[in-house]
Amino acid sequence: NAASKGTYEFYMLKEIDEQPAVMRRLSTDYLDKAGKPVVDEKIVDAVSQADRIYIFAAGTSYHAGLVGKEIFEKLTGIPTEVGYASEAGYHFPMMSKHPFFIFLTQSGETADSRVVLTEANKRGIPSLTMTNVEGSTLSREATYTMLLNAGPEIAVASTKAYTAQVALQAILAKAVGEKLGDQAAKDWNLKQGLSLAAEGIQEIVDGKDKIEELAKKYLVPSRNAFYIGRGIDHAVAMEAALKLKEVSYIQTEGFAAAELKHGTISLIEDGTPVIALIDDPVTADLTRGNIQEVASRGANVITIVGKQFAKEGDNIVLPEIDYYLSALLSVVPTQLLAYFASKNKGLDVDKPRNLAKSVTVE
Ligand code: G6P
Repeated sequence: NAASKGTYEFYMLKEIDEQPAVMRRLSTDYLDKAGKPVVDEKIVDAVSQADRIYIFAAGTSYHAGLVGKEIFEKLTGIPTEVGYASEAGYHFPMMSKHPFFIFLTQSGETADSRVVLTEANKRGIPSLTMTNVEGSTLSREATYTMLLNAGPEIAVASTKAYTAQVALQAILAKAVGEKLGDQAAKDWNLKQGLSLAAEGIQEIVDGKDKIEELAKKYLVPSRNAFYIGRGIDHAVAMEAALKLKEVSYIQTEGFAAAELKHGTISLIEDGTPVIALIDDPVTADLTRGNIQEVASRGANVITIVGKQFAKEGDNIVLPEIDYYLSALLSVVPTQLLAYFASKNKGLDVDKPRNLAKSVTVE
């Protein structure tokens, strides 16, 4: 059954490996043969009428929202904000005239997110919950629901729910963009994009031995680490850092690549691992410059780079994909680095100390 570990030692690796299938399922469930989104008209209408989209979430789901913001703004032209639910609940952001709320929540049970939804309902703000769990609390209480259809996620560290959230936001953004007559949205071949994502993720997981070697060599011996990136890579850097620290206990921070030099670079010592993500055509060369800055101060740099931007000596080269879907590929080596760092430290990968799969207290 879907919730059994099978031959895997840990659920986390099983769930990382399931991501190609999750991409294919979302494509089948939410795009027709011609690639047109199949999304409830009522949802598409409601988002289309919004003058601003507000995404609320916690943890990994929040990081998926940071990627979603880029995609929504690009394809719908609707300004999009992302907030921690735990902050918005008690410091409610200033609202535009016609807001639309999107809650990203794997479990559909996160108490912090529910506080915001309760307030939204009081104010009559329309909302959508994107969740993996049918009938969950946030699904029942929001105006609309879209299911991630990723299958049960058991490991505490979220992996396939993140990529499903990114992909489902892309599908909704395309549907809304098309409805609003946006040419870029109409032209966006998302069906092909998701199929490239599925193949690309497969290629990355097939190369996991090399990623394990990197984790053993650079991460396992280290007390701390950094992820850097710009644009969508910045959002992925934050998720990658969370993943690594939560399962391996290596203190890790995710940074906008250029921000490091404004203070935090003082923490770079001989051998500090700095993992750089490069997928953004606009800033690829600038991030290379930031790599130089840390390398010259002794950092052990690991690069995760889209094929179009790859150079001699890069460590992990990702198959080519549209920038707006790049998170679907770039996050996967970071999930594997976290998994192998934890496993090779002899930790319980699926149940890191102090953590729960879903947090139902504020
Ligand atoms: C917990 C989990 C995280 C998760 C977060 C939000 O802290 O340990 O992995 O990202 O809750 O959960 P949700 O179910 O709302 O996505």
